[in-house]
Amino acid sequence: MSAVALDVSAVRARFSALSRPLVFFDGPGGTQVPDEVVEAIAGYLRKSNANLGGPFETSRRSDLLVGEARRAAGAFLGCGAEEVVFGANMTTLNFALSRAIGRELSAGDEIVVTKLDHDGNVAPWLELAQDLGLRVQFAELRDDTTIDLDHLESLLSERTRVVAFPWASNAVGTLVDVARIRELAHKVGALAWVDAVHSAPHAPIDVAAAGVDVLLCSPYKFYGPHLGLAFARAELLERWRPYKVRPAPERPLGARFETGTLPHELLAGLVAAVAYVRSVGFEAIVPYERELGERFLAGLPDSCTLHGLPSMDGRVPTFCVTIRGLTPAMAAERLAERGFAVWHGNYYAVEVFEHLGLRDGGLRVGIVHYNTADEVDRLLEALQVL
Ligand SMILES: Cc1ncc(COP(=O)(O)O)c(C=O)c1O
Repeated sequence: MSAVALDVSAVRARFSALSRPLVFFDGPGGTQVPDEVVEAIAGYLRKSNANLGGPFETSRRSDLLVGEARRAAGAFLGCGAEEVVFGANMTTLNFALSRAIGRELSAGDEIVVTKLDHDGNVAPWLELAQDLGLRVQFAELRDDTTIDLDHLESLLSERTRVVAFPWASNAVGTLVDVARIRELAHKVGALAWVDAVHSAPHAPIDVAAAGVDVLLCSPYKFYGPHLGLAFARAELLERWRPYKVRPAPERPLGARFETGTLPHELLAGLVAAVAYVRSVGFEAIVPYERELGERFLAGLPDSCTLHGLPSMDGRVPTFCVTIRGLTPAMAAERLAERGFAVWHGNYYAVEVFEHLGLRDGGLRVGIVHYNTADEVDRLLEALQVL
């Protein structure tokens, strides 16, 4: 991927939401959406609103839209349209898909998760374990917040059925060696089950190249609407028995795991979001975000402690900091008063904060490609005098 310059003014001009004074460093909790996504959602409701499968105009348009959304999602993930599953959000989809695979698991089977995960990729396995008598084990973190791959490997056995892990941490920004963990999982015949929610706005996903079996993400983290999106290999979607109502369609394969009527207007928004990301391009987004991340790290005042990797190598520009003399909640409150949107707490990354020994969680500064160098500088100034 060769680097391309990003025109941030042109990017920002596409987002009415960015025209107010509030500075958005809250992307990891959900990004703003460009106007074209807003228009696509409204346009569907104006012109195409209907259920599927009817002979009349709006229903036909809705059928076409859902097909288009599957193709757009497939293009975003690097899979076939039939391997796409839509849902309310990542968490709901993960409970659904884990329950589906649960029908072929039995007591004593093992699941490996990691201490870098959001609970959306942990709790579904803990609950399934409760129901079926499975054993869930956690791969440890190293001091630098990378996953201890030797420890992960030591947990694998011929009883391991799934290795669930994140592509990137929503708490500290650490990127994961997806190919290596997939390789380890496959060596023992386990599925590689990836939570790509946090990496999706920052780096391209190609499930075929990554060779993973299941991957989930959330379009509202990559400039789209509140929706969940999953990929599972066609063979798995064919084999697993879904919890579905009997008359609902069996094709395309992904539809077997979608319960009830889809949010068609949000699928219209997803199509627009995928087109938006493609129009900006990761070859522009990645180097630009790296530059802003480096600027943030270089200017971080002494009163702030960074938790996680110290440079932009091996991470996305999501930073966990604590500030001398202030709880994360107090710091977020003061920054809000000064016009900055940042999150505080553990953002459901339970084990990461246990590992860091931060009972009150952290302050999360999430940079995305619509942020500017000036916004980073203003945040650093604000942190200096907080
Ligand atoms: C890494 C990660 N995984 C999973 C989730 C859960 O996603 P959703 O809100 O779509 O259920 C989040 C949400 O913040 C996340 O950051």
